[in-house]
Amino acid sequence: MSEIPVLIDGKEVKAREGMTVLEAARSAGILIPTLCHHEKLEPFGGCRLCIVEVQVGDWTKRVVSCVYTVEENLNVTTRSEKIDKIRKMILELQLCHAPDSPELLELAKEYGAQRDRFEKEASFCIHCGLCVRYCAEIKQKDAVGFVDRGIRKEISFIPEIAAKECWDCKECFPLCPTEALQAAFVLTQALIFSPPPIEPASI
Ligand code: SF4
Ligand code: FES
Repeated sequence: MSEIPVLIDGKEVKAREGMTVLEAARSAGILIPTLCHHEKLEPFGGCRLCIVEVQVGDWTKRVVSCVYTVEENLNVTTRSEKIDKIRKMILELQLCHAPDSPELLELAKEYGAQRDRFEKEASFCIHCGLCVRYCAEIKQKDAVGFVDRGIRKEISFIPEIAAKECWDCKECFPLCPTEALQAAFVLTQALIFSPPPIEPASI
């Protein structure tokens, strides 16, 4: 596979053909924040936090670095006033859902995002899809999935599959940037193990 030289924040990086900008940056120790990326999973591009500016010749645009692949003469800027502003807004919107997530709060500090800028909708899930994709792509179990759409979209374990597959696995837990996954799991556990309804006593 051929090497493609790219410039990231002024540093020359030899990227492999097919690498994403995020992978190329990481290979050179350059940090780009992510919320929905996992190196073992297919690129997803959902949270947009990894947005960067790329320039090829006179042409500049903002791209999602976890899905954008490197090309000849690419000049990447991972931080600028505009990029930081976009990340700040994304974080403020995510903090509506998970205002106490340590991962979000840490990023909020870095980008000056306000925890309480928008009205809270504490569903705790930020829809990064890491749990769903990990279970489907790596474990091939589909024990957890999204239900509903739009603002009602939430994750849910499939009790029949969870009862067989999840107790000894739980590999998705550490991937969740919020508490949502564990809360959903505890709920599923309660449903699976709840005692059957008591039959009315016959007289
Ligand atoms: S439960 Fe957690 S890991 Fe799963 S989609 Fe929601 S925030 Fe992401
Ligand atoms: S990490 Fe790239 S879009 Fe989420």
